[in-house]
Parts: sequence; structure tokens; C-alpha cells
Amino acid sequence: MSEHFVAVAACDTIPEGKFIKVSIKGHDIILAHVEGRYHAVEDNCSHEDYPLSFGCLDGHRIKCSLHGSRFSLETGEPLDEPADCPIRVFPVKVMDGQVWIDPSV
Ligand code: FES
Repeated sequence: MSEHFVAVAACDTIPEGKFIKVSIKGHDIILAHVEGRYHAVEDNCSHEDYPLSFGCLDGHRIKCSLHGSRFSLETGEPLDEPADCPIRVFPVKVMDGQVWIDPSV
């Protein structure tokens, strides 16, 4: 495992279909639990620098509450206008009952 991975939460603290917000080394990150997998994306909409954590999950997507753009949790790609730039996606690992994120990527 990369030396950059940081343990951020116990797996059982993030219910299926929910997300939490974590801050690691200056990055505000959304950690989502969807269909048994964990995804980490930056907590910032690429449209107008608005927190995506104010929005909600829509399957494998996070939806911005300001203008409605949805982003893939897997690729960070925007799926709806008005956003046209991707958001950052961070590598995630599960080990020893913890979720680990690499914020260096
Ligand atoms: S700020 Fe997110 S879609 Fe406009």
C-alpha cells in the first residue's frame, strides 16, 4: 500500500448509500459508501466552487445542490450541465476494518 494512504474512518461508521465528509492534509473530501464500495471525491463542485457535501447521492453519482450537475463517483466526470469539468477522485482502500484514502493523487 502506498505510504500516502491515510485511515479516515471505520467501515461500519458509513452506512450503505450515505457519505461522510473528511479533511485530509488540506483536502475536503466526500467519502461515499455505495453498493459495498467506497469512493472518495473532492468536496467541491467544478462549476462554481460550491461544496458537493451540500448535495446528495444518486446511485454512483453525487449531485450538486446548487445547479443540479451530477458527477460520477468513479471517474469524477460531470454527467449534466452546467458543470463541464471533472472533480478529483482519490484512491480508496479497505484494510483492517478501516477506509483509507490517498490524498496525494
Ligand atoms: S455550483 Fe454545482 S452545478 Fe453549479
